[in-house]
Amino acid sequence: MPDEGRLAKVKIAVISRNRRLYSTRRLKEAAEKAGHKAKVLNPLGFSIDVEQRAPDLHYRGKPLSSYDAVIPRIGASITLFGTAVLRQFEQMGVFTVNSSQAVSVSRDKLRSFQILSRHRINFPKTAFVHDLNQIVPTIEHMGGPPVVVKLLQGTQGVGVILADTTRVAQSVIEVLQGAANQNVLIQAFVAESRGRDVRALVVGNRVVAAMRRTAQGDEFRSNLHRGGSAKVIQLDSEYERTAVHAAQIMGLRVAGVDMLEGKDGPLIMEINSSPGLEGIEESTGIDVAGEIIQLIEQEVLFPEIDIRQRLTVASGYGVMEIPVDDSSTLVGQTIASAGLKEHDVLVLTIERGSLTVPNPASSREILAGDTLLCFGKNATLKQYAPRPRKRKRRDNARKQDGS
Ligand SMILES: Nc1ncnc2c1ncn2[C@@H]1O[C@H](COP(=O)(O)OP(=O)(O)O)[C@@H](O)[C@H]1O
Ligand SMILES: [Mg+2]
Repeated sequence: MPDEGRLAKVKIAVISRNRRLYSTRRLKEAAEKAGHKAKVLNPLGFSIDVEQRAPDLHYRGKPLSSYDAVIPRIGASITLFGTAVLRQFEQMGVFTVNSSQAVSVSRDKLRSFQILSRHRINFPKTAFVHDLNQIVPTIEHMGGPPVVVKLLQGTQGVGVILADTTRVAQSVIEVLQGAANQNVLIQAFVAESRGRDVRALVVGNRVVAAMRRTAQGDEFRSNLHRGGSAKVIQLDSEYERTAVHAAQIMGLRVAGVDMLEGKDGPLIMEINSSPGLEGIEESTGIDVAGEIIQLIEQEVLFPEIDIRQRLTVASGYGVMEIPVDDSSTLVGQTIASAGLKEHDVLVLTIERGSLTVPNPASSREILAGDTLLCFGKNATLKQYAPRPRKRKRRDNARKQDGS
C-alpha cells in the first residue's frame, strides 16, 4: 500500500548549460525539496541516436538513465541542437515541461506574432519586409515613425533599436540586413509604455507571479539585462487573461509573457519559453521554481488524458459537445428528467459561462447557453447536436491581393 498523502518520486532532468545559473540551481533545489531526484544535464553533452523504433540518448558517452520529466532551459544560441535533444526525449516518451515545437516557435518573434494574430490577443503593429523599398510605405502604413526595429531572434534587449525617423529606420535595417545578414521586424513604438513593461510568469494555466520592469534613465528597453529594475505587481484580470491565453496559444506550460501597457490594455511583446527566475523570484518573493515542480507532479503523476480519444471505442460510442440553445428541448429539464440516462448518455461536464461543473448530479437543471460534454452512442448523441450553419464568406477574403 502506498504511503497515503505522499507523492511518488519523480526523476527530473534540468537541461541547462550551466549548473551555477540561478534558475538552474533553483529548479534543482525545488525538485529536491519536494522529495524528487533532479540532475542538471548539459544539452551539448548529448548524442542523439535516431534509431528506428528505439530512439535513445547518450550523455557524455554513456547511455542515459531513465527520466520522468525534463525542464528545458535552452539558451538562444543553441536553440537548434537543444530543441533536437528535447524532441528526442519526447520520442522516448519523457514528459517535457515545454515541448520542442513550442520552444522553437517562441524563439522566432515573427512566427510567434503570426500565430497570435489569429486570436483575440493584442500586440503592437508589426511588419516584416525584405526589400528595402518596402520600408517607407510599411512605416507609413503603420502610422509613421517612431518605430522599433528588432532582430527576429534577439534576446535581453540586444538588437532592439528605437528609430525616431524613417531615415534612421532605413539605415538601421540596411546595415542589419546587409552587413550583419540579419532579418528584422519593424514594430510600432508604444510611446505610452515608454521604458516600462509587465512580465507575467505563467505556470500551467495561471499567472504565478508578475512584475513591472522599468528601464534605467532614458533607455526605452526595460530588460533587467539592460539595467532595468523590477517591482512586484498585482496583475489586473485583463493582463492575467492575456498572459495565460498567449502562453496557451503558443503551447507553453511555462512562459514569461512580456506585455506593454498600451492605452487600451495589454499588448504582447514577447513570450519567453525559458524565463529567468532570478528577477521575478527576488522582486515578488514567490517560489516560482516550486510552482514548476508542482506542475510536473501534476502532469507526471496525474497525466491529463484526452478523454475523447480514450472513450472513442469501436462499438459506436463517442464523446460529443452538445451546445444547448434557447430552442433546445433540454432547456429547463434536469439531467434525469431529460431522459439522457435512459438513452445511455452520460453527462461528463456542463460548461456554463466560465464555470465547468464536473460530474453533474442528475438533479442538475440544464440552462440555455450551457454546453454539455456527453459520452454515449454516436447515433443518439447526433440527435442532440445542432445543425451545422453555413459558413459566411469573410469580407476580407476579397481584398487578399489588393484587387
Ligand atoms: N514596440 C515597442 N514599444 C515600446 N517599447 C518596446 C517595444 N518593443 C520593445 N520595447 C522595449 O524593449 C524591450 C526589449 O524588447 P523585446 O521585444 O522584449 O526584445 P528582447 O527579446 O531582446 O527582450 C522591451 O522589454 C520593452 O521595454
Ligand atoms: Mg524581452
